[in-house]
Amino acid sequence: MAFKTYGTLPVTDSVSWIGANDRETDKFEGLWDIPLGVAYNSYFINDDKTALIDTVKSSFMDDFIYRLGRLLGERQLDYVIVNHVEPDHSGSLGLIRRLYPGVRFVGNAKTLDLIKNFYHIDDGFVEVGEGEVLDLGLHKLSFAFAPMVHWPESMATYDATEKILFSNDVFGGFGALEGGLFDDEVNLDWALYEMMRYYVNIVGRFAAPALKALAKIRALDIGMICPAHGPIWRSDPSRVMGLYEKWSRQETEEGVVLVYGSMYGNTKAASDLIARSLTESGVNNVSVYDISRSNMSYITTDIWRYAGLILSCCTYNMELFPPMAALLRLLENKMMKGRQIGLCGTYSWSGAALKEMKAFVERSKGNWNLLDPAIEIKSYPTETDIELCAALGQEMARAVKRGL
Ligand code: FEO
Repeated sequence: MAFKTYGTLPVTDSVSWIGANDRETDKFEGLWDIPLGVAYNSYFINDDKTALIDTVKSSFMDDFIYRLGRLLGERQLDYVIVNHVEPDHSGSLGLIRRLYPGVRFVGNAKTLDLIKNFYHIDDGFVEVGEGEVLDLGLHKLSFAFAPMVHWPESMATYDATEKILFSNDVFGGFGALEGGLFDDEVNLDWALYEMMRYYVNIVGRFAAPALKALAKIRALDIGMICPAHGPIWRSDPSRVMGLYEKWSRQETEEGVVLVYGSMYGNTKAASDLIARSLTESGVNNVSVYDISRSNMSYITTDIWRYAGLILSCCTYNMELFPPMAALLRLLENKMMKGRQIGLCGTYSWSGAALKEMKAFVERSKGNWNLLDPAIEIKSYPTETDIELCAALGQEMARAVKRGL
């Protein structure tokens, strides 16, 4: 596929990708590791009226503006559709307004309020309502509001002419585009995993609103999904919609995540015993993470995927080891439910780990089902502790294999 002009790619005859690949940011939102970068997808529609769908993060706007100018030629930019004001998508709005003073920013009432707050721009808006149509000429754009997926103003734009859904964060994934723009041009296993990692860490807290948004999206006749991150889904858009529905319903697969926190390897020793017991009990999908060495984004993705979680952790200064405490706060924030949990706490002179992890389960009010035995080990596992570790692995295996 030839470049239409430098750094832009044709999506259809009149729609172009004009995004940016970010391989410089280490942590998305300052939290989530992105070793393979992330793409900020923006789309240009060339019609009687010209329109951009979203923009790119401000650190990439110089090059973005240059490429936009190449697409526009002598024409003016008429509209920017602002599906979402989080700055990874809206970061170029200020410069665009200065360069194209006649451009109008299109969004809902909440969008426009956020633009005022972020960029101190309070004019040149077109406020649209749910389902309202913006006529560009050949392309008729309408708007499906998706509140809280990811922010209150979030919406998707539907182009009825070309049956394209510009979905912003929804169906987006981590990873810069490595030459491939469409799903049939990339490694699909990798793209779907990074879509799930984006979903769990960015959207997962809002699983219930996501289901409502998906019901609206399902009612549209969609031939292609153009998200704001990751590849364009054109091969089988229904497949990614189905995955989003599955994740938003919090449906799990048979498997167990074991997360341990260990300062000197003694808690790790107990954790390895539990992991072995899981395997000997017939669980093939076992993911073990050292909480001190693994970015939360990978841990939470596997926890979202699998039916069982085992937390095995030491005590630190009469409290739960701090990285594990941070994970528990994150899991509470994500409001996960319907999963099995097993606990193993360790201490040497003042126990707190098991107590605090049990308190987490109690606060969840049944969202996590605590399995027996809950283990407490003093320093290094004894023969009795080893038997308890085996028993916990067996009980977890029974629970996830029964689909409880
Ligand atoms: Fe990709 Fe919620 O921003």
